[in-house]
Amino acid sequence: MTKVTVLGAAGGIGQPLSLLLKMCPFVSTLALYDLRLAAGVARDLSHVNTNAHCIGYGKDELPDALMGAQVVVIPAGVPRKPGMTRDDLFRVNAGIVAQLVAACAEHCPNARILVISNPVNSTVPVACETLRRLGKFQPGRVMGVTTLDVVRAQTFLSDALGPQQYSRESMKKHVTVVGGHSGTTIVPVILNPTLAQKLVHRKLWDAYVQRVQFGGDEVVQAKQGAGSATLSMALAGYYFAEQVLRSIHHEAPDALLPCYVYLPGLPGGRELQARLGTQVEYFAAPVRMDRGVVVHVESEWTEKVTPQERKMLDVCVQELDANVRKGKRFVQSKL
Ligand code: NAD
Ligand code: LMR
Repeated sequence: MTKVTVLGAAGGIGQPLSLLLKMCPFVSTLALYDLRLAAGVARDLSHVNTNAHCIGYGKDELPDALMGAQVVVIPAGVPRKPGMTRDDLFRVNAGIVAQLVAACAEHCPNARILVISNPVNSTVPVACETLRRLGKFQPGRVMGVTTLDVVRAQTFLSDALGPQQYSRESMKKHVTVVGGHSGTTIVPVILNPTLAQKLVHRKLWDAYVQRVQFGGDEVVQAKQGAGSATLSMALAGYYFAEQVLRSIHHEAPDALLPCYVYLPGLPGGRELQARLGTQVEYFAAPVRMDRGVVVHVESEWTEKVTPQERKMLDVCVQELDANVRKGKRFVQSKL
């Protein structure tokens, strides 16, 4: 029996993500919380002929939504409009994330918390520092969701190489994405040297990297002010939530997806810092889980990094460091 709570469930991501979770055999109760429309979304989904029991919770019902939750997914917050960076969302979304995780600390202190709200590079430190302040921080239970970058990296690699010969599905084992979730902190790492060579040889590597790093902008511009990626994000968020749920139910993962975590608090975290030659505290890397909790941060992928990717990692960690400091300052300013 697993209760999953979605905070921000009536939004552009929240609705399709909740539908996917309603289809998931590992979910027994699906609690949908939002400041608006949650009851309607829950009633709609409750007609779907799968077993998960679906309940909507409005503004004043957050404690009930969280009570007994084993997994909490947070896509609550404002999205970008054209011309904005993710960092422009910080002020509003940091406050929302801090308030929601503080409620998690009180009502479901052992839940796995999956943060989608942007800017992830800073909202995850906000979440962790808020929990730490409340004496409830467990590093393996807070994960920033960066799976959309992985989904894009696979799709765009297939596009670049020719989808007839290199299908999108077959790209899953050939590329991962590490670092963070904005611009140059997004670092695609091609694990298959032959494919990496092909891209470089055909002079497609720069354009490929640019597209992975700025794929979010592509969607924001195409939506013309109506928001950012929602459908692809819902699927990506579901892939990650499913990995957590599979682990809770002792099923082997499909793949080791990366997520954005607090390195010093996790086995393998210090080793990764050493391999990257940085003290940066938060970083997205493939992780191993046990019972849906991160138990090891992987660093073998660093052995496959090319000199170009290495340069990107150096840029990435510098920017990440500033993003992390910003999140930590926000929580300290509330003391
Ligand atoms: P949206 O505006 O469509 O939906 C957000 C929902 O959050 C709304 O229904 C709103 O009522 C709700 N909300 C706001 N404050 C809340 C609170 N305090 N408690 C509960 N619910 C609250 O936005 P969206 O397109 O779904 O995007 C949501 C967030 O996800 C944005 O910050 C966006 O930038 C981010 N995002 C992240 C990724 C990623 O890869 N991590 C990808 C896409 C979008
Ligand atoms: C994305 O990568 O699509 C999201 O982070 C949303 C955005 O603002 O680009």
